[in-house]
Amino acid sequence: MPISLKHELMKVLSVTSECAPLVKTGGLADVAGALPGALAQEGIEMRTLLPGYRDVMARLKEPETLHRFKTLQGAPARILAERVEGVDLLVLDAPHLFDRAGSLYLSPAGEDWPDNAERFAALSRAAADIAAGALADWQPDIVHAHDWQAALAPYYMRNGAVPSIMTIHNIAFQGLAPAKSRAKLGIDKADFTPEGLEYWGEISALKAGLTFATKLTTVSPSYAEELMEPHFGMGLDGVLRKRRDDLSGVLNGIDTGVWNPATDPLIKPFKTPRGKKKNKALLRDAFDLPEAQGPLCIVISRMTEQKGLDLLLEALPVLTSKGGQLALLGTGSPELETAFQELAARELNVSVKITYDESLAHKMIAGGDAILVPSRFEPCGLTQLMGLAYGTVPLVALTGGLRDTVISASHAALARGVATGLQCLPGSVEALRNALAKLCLLYADPITWAQIARNAMAHPVGWESSAKEYANLYRSMKAA
Ligand code: ADP
Ligand code: GLC
Repeated sequence: MPISLKHELMKVLSVTSECAPLVKTGGLADVAGALPGALAQEGIEMRTLLPGYRDVMARLKEPETLHRFKTLQGAPARILAERVEGVDLLVLDAPHLFDRAGSLYLSPAGEDWPDNAERFAALSRAAADIAAGALADWQPDIVHAHDWQAALAPYYMRNGAVPSIMTIHNIAFQGLAPAKSRAKLGIDKADFTPEGLEYWGEISALKAGLTFATKLTTVSPSYAEELMEPHFGMGLDGVLRKRRDDLSGVLNGIDTGVWNPATDPLIKPFKTPRGKKKNKALLRDAFDLPEAQGPLCIVISRMTEQKGLDLLLEALPVLTSKGGQLALLGTGSPELETAFQELAARELNVSVKITYDESLAHKMIAGGDAILVPSRFEPCGLTQLMGLAYGTVPLVALTGGLRDTVISASHAALARGVATGLQCLPGSVEALRNALAKLCLLYADPITWAQIARNAMAHPVGWESSAKEYANLYRSMKAA
């Protein structure tokens, strides 16, 4: 039966500060870019509201103007519409907020833009106005806000009829603003309380979303549980415990149209782990690594405290002493960048590229034997999913989405032949050392290794089941 007959078509507005392939700093962009296509299969019509950054405006060819604001955070603004790269975009054209050099959140000097709170309050305000019927021909049934940048939308919508979902992609970023910005951000004095959106004397955009949204989700079931613990909740665990019944985890997928080893135009395509060989040779060339006996491990990551790469620096001698190698692609903290570059300068079997390069990321995922994700916390993580799809065995920390997506090669899992990777306790150099040693042992047993890689490739990493979960959630909210 066609979807439209089974279910009435639902309209959802996704509100996000990033959307691949247009503008991206991390996994949020991948998720926001993939959701509309995945949800279309479920009879959901999703439009995506995105800031009109310079790079986004440059991609619009013949946008339609759907709405004009006389003034939005101090100057006129517009909502433009155009379909770009398969996504129905609504672009908030507000040059005074978004037409700038630098990156999405940072000035060219690498500092947060001083008006970030106002910039993303404007995005949230535009979302709330669209929910209230600002566009002549399109009003959403649900607003789906992603991360702190969209988190004031559920607050601005609090007295309206349209329900909202707030998705936490990373609780480490909370969008704090000084109390004196209250009026500028359109926040009622009555809501500037600990029960509302005050956070230790400041305004927390994320807390506003967590308090006022109809439903809350995060990007894996395990992170949903972790978020309610003080260790992971980053000061908002109490707020989340209060909303336990409204909080759920919906696992991210990856776009299997883009990440498919059999059809990927950026690699030598393959259908079984054996086909990785040619890609491995190319990867060695690209990173100038010699032949070696041990596993060629890869890392593709933002280089921040979250990702645990400082732990990897300490644990790495275990890998190299057993003939293993590391190829790392990443950017981030200058200290970590330098530390890895220095290591690569003295260690033949470690090679590092400090840059952002999507095409190289594909080649690494295709050619690596294993992918390392030793995060201290990880809401979902996408690179381990890419690794699974390409038979690149993930070695991950036992946390968040890394816990939910990898079956560790325990004795039991090996005996049953179901292991897809390895897991170790997060935040521990010793645990990481042991896991790297075990990785080398497993790699040295070609039959076991091939089985793990085959299992990995068979593990579903697409959006199918999670798209259904989101669709069910939307429908339950509309019906409520
Ligand atoms: P996070 O969002 O916390 O950074 P994820 O694993 O969810 O972590 O998503 C990271 C995304 O960014 C993946 O698509 C990954 O391939 C990509 N990525 C990260 N660093 C780089 C880089 N230096 N070059 C290319 N892609 C990168
Ligand atoms: C965040 C998280 C990451 C997650 C991504 C997409 O950036 O750090 O774990 O995969 O969002 O949800």
